[in-house]
Amino acid sequence: MFIGRLELASNLMLAPLAGYTNLPFRLVIRPLGGLGLATTDLINARSLIENKAPALKLLETRPDDQPLAIQLFGSNPEEMRDAAVLAENLGAAVVDVNMGCPVPKVCKTGGGSAMMMMTELAKTAQLVHQMVRAVKIPVTAKMRLGWDDGNLTAPELARALEDAGVAAITIHGRTRAQGFGGTVNLAGIRAVVAGVRHIPVIGNGDVTTPESARVMMDQTGCAGVSIGRGAFYSPWIFHHTELYFRTGQRLPEPDWEARVDIMRQHLDRLVEVFGEKRGCLMFRKIGPLYARRWGPVREFNRRIVALSSRAEFEEIIEAYRQWRQPFLDESGHLKPTYQPAPLRPSFLAPAEPMPAAAIPVPRGPVEFW
Ligand SMILES: Cc1cc2nc3c(=O)[nH]c(=O)nc-3n(C[C@H](O)[C@H](O)[C@H](O)COP(=O)(O)O)c2cc1C
Repeated sequence: MFIGRLELASNLMLAPLAGYTNLPFRLVIRPLGGLGLATTDLINARSLIENKAPALKLLETRPDDQPLAIQLFGSNPEEMRDAAVLAENLGAAVVDVNMGCPVPKVCKTGGGSAMMMMTELAKTAQLVHQMVRAVKIPVTAKMRLGWDDGNLTAPELARALEDAGVAAITIHGRTRAQGFGGTVNLAGIRAVVAGVRHIPVIGNGDVTTPESARVMMDQTGCAGVSIGRGAFYSPWIFHHTELYFRTGQRLPEPDWEARVDIMRQHLDRLVEVFGEKRGCLMFRKIGPLYARRWGPVREFNRRIVALSSRAEFEEIIEAYRQWRQPFLDESGHLKPTYQPAPLRPSFLAPAEPMPAAAIPVPRGPVEFW
């Protein structure tokens, strides 16, 4: 798959999950294979221009963390343009623009709002066009379907951005009103695919298995998929999906020991990048996500949310290894009653949506996500 002139090894992208998919996680999952492109958390263009330390930390990367997109947000055209140049100079392969949420077609007061949307579209397209002109690397954009079901404005925005020179669009198949709930709207993603002329559209939302990636592509015509939360349920999802697309082969999920090993590598990288104290603090919210597919985990979660040193991690794992013995059969596998239910993406099984608490989703306005 190509984004502009950049050729990717696969059409599978890591979606940005601020606070989770930063450098340590990317360094752990890239060697597992199958990943085409990863991205940073969203970064405020002004903070980047002003050299703010937290923004620079979010941009931290390594030679083996490529290809990498740097995701920017901001509404000032000059700042966005200058931040794009800085991102290019920092080694980004792609600059991704977080579009926030398209404005509603109809504003609450009525009248004149269609005009408002067209004005907004023109302003946004102009902002992005300036970025495109300022850098040699491709500029892409990520957006939701629209404000609510009555305002699915993403196809028009996508087309305006294509005309402004954007090289690809990622579309999260939900509206702002949906937040992270409800069903991912495949017809909505399909409308965005139909709305652009040539550029690839990357579908996003609730892809948690190779089969669901296939369904999203087949039913929407999107050129690739972007996976966020699914990468924590299975860090091997990119490798498994790429193989499944290429050969039809479906690899089994790795066992508990392999999952612990990935988790340990992630903690080691966090400690390396952020130091032991901060790395362990950050891991407190990450550990329980890995453990979601482990069966009974009360004892692990109770202790990991208070993790304070790298050595304590090994103690917690050893204690948990003993604690979970009664849940295993003679060959060391979880007894059937304790096995987690199969993952069911919302768009495959609307009657059984993904558990809401699977990964803590942002509360409040979600216009950036
Ligand atoms: C905790 C969290 C943080 C997120 N941070 C970002 C972000 O920085 N930029 C962005 O464009 N989307 C962000 N998103 C949205 C995801 O990239 C993605 O669009 C959404 O989670 C749906 O995909 P998924 O079901 O594969 O996770 C975030 C989502 C979550 C749950």
